[in-house]
Amino acid sequence: MENRQQWGSRYGFIMAAVGSAVGLGNIWRFPAVAYENGGGAFFLPYLFALLTAGIPILILEFTIGHKYRGSAPFSFFKINKKAEWLGWWQVLISFVICTYYAVIIAWALKYTIYSFGTKWGANPEGFLYGSVLKLAEKPGDIGGLVPGVVLPLVFVWAVTLFVLYRGVSKGIEKLNKIFLPTLVIMFTIIVVRALTLEGAIDGLNAFFQPNWKMIFDGKVWVAAYGQIFFSLSIGFAIMLTYSSYLPKKSDINNNAFITAFANSGFELLAGIGVFAALGFMANQQGVGVDEVVSSGIGLAFVVFPSIINEFPGMNGLFGALFFLSLVFAGMTSLISIVETFIAGIQEKFNVSRTKAVLTGGLVASVISLLYATNGGLYLLDIVDYFINNFGVVTAGLVEVVLIAWFFKGLGGLQSHANDVSDLRTGLWWKACLGVVTPIVLGYMMFDNFRQNLLENYGGYPTGLIIPAGVLVVATTIVGGILLSRKKWKANTALEKQGEGIKHVS
Ligand code: ALA
Repeated sequence: MENRQQWGSRYGFIMAAVGSAVGLGNIWRFPAVAYENGGGAFFLPYLFALLTAGIPILILEFTIGHKYRGSAPFSFFKINKKAEWLGWWQVLISFVICTYYAVIIAWALKYTIYSFGTKWGANPEGFLYGSVLKLAEKPGDIGGLVPGVVLPLVFVWAVTLFVLYRGVSKGIEKLNKIFLPTLVIMFTIIVVRALTLEGAIDGLNAFFQPNWKMIFDGKVWVAAYGQIFFSLSIGFAIMLTYSSYLPKKSDINNNAFITAFANSGFELLAGIGVFAALGFMANQQGVGVDEVVSSGIGLAFVVFPSIINEFPGMNGLFGALFFLSLVFAGMTSLISIVETFIAGIQEKFNVSRTKAVLTGGLVASVISLLYATNGGLYLLDIVDYFINNFGVVTAGLVEVVLIAWFFKGLGGLQSHANDVSDLRTGLWWKACLGVVTPIVLGYMMFDNFRQNLLENYGGYPTGLIIPAGVLVVATTIVGGILLSRKKWKANTALEKQGEGIKHVS
């Protein structure tokens, strides 16, 4: 068994962590979520969630990874044998996310090519659902595979698995050092262009104008937490796995702040760019900005092509820059999501990295074909909603409560982080994790659960919500428990790390 891999430099680690955080969530999720949840007023819950949960949990996950130097299941196992299931639960959440995340990148890749010559024509909506996705009439009809989606999907998986096979510093770090700066340059060009379009200011007004009434709605707060967790890659094993590759002498607290602020900075930039462009489109069509906003998939793959159609010049180039930005942002995140279970498989079953990449990657890529079918989009929408609102956020909450109240306590972890960091955390860190987050997030989760019982998400039939939503989330928990019952394979590299692993078979 080889020695544990490490990042080549602090800069490389930060690039990888920011690369993981900045993803599809920043570009197509954040602008619409912010707008739907009160515009300017959303920033209050957003900042609250960032400062009291996002950054403290990021520090917590960096600390656990750095201290125990293992995948999420192994690190939680070392904290307490009874906590291993939590690591597997988070890893399985990542597994579910990667299966559809890859498909969205595949669409973006197709659209990068379509941009040259604006192939979507005058009706981008019909083009997306008809020609590209060949969407089934009814949610629940799976239909067959759509070859036009399968092809780019295979390419996305091939690149991802190759980078992971190359390893931490030669693969993941290298790719991030190229992709992240390129992404920032491409995206800045788009934002500057968008800001100089006619009507941009109306878009910004719509984005920043606060709707204070919404601030008292529990849903708005859950949306803010959900956005922070997904966007910062916390609660689903990623940051813990990445920080396990840090050398012993590495900063933790400062790195967490840098990562979090870089991510939120990019998110804000995306919001400004997207809304400036929406303002331009509203202006061209002589309608209000609220009439052109759409969320998620609609925003990126329907509204943006329409905006590109109306650009005064170089339409193809700006279209390609936008969709390539999605591809770059998505790839650096997808790689981090998949790495969680590559690391888990490798350690639990004591197999080589190559074997873990081949088996884990193969199973994930085959499952992801489900979303490349005629009914794939409906499935994707439901799985995405449930795994985020009930998977990621709950797993993050359970992690905080178990560690702060039951297993380890925060004191030891805080000293560990403070000893190696430029910046020291104080009482606020413990108060946020031990008290504020469990109470506020716990209440919000409860409220959200209640609302979902009253009404099916997106108006989908219960017969589809149960398997694609409820069962998928339940499987990640049950699967986590089952995996934690299996003994660790004799593993010299892990044994060398000392206590806690002596009973391995
Ligand atoms: N953090 C990644 C994103 O925002 C998963 O898309």
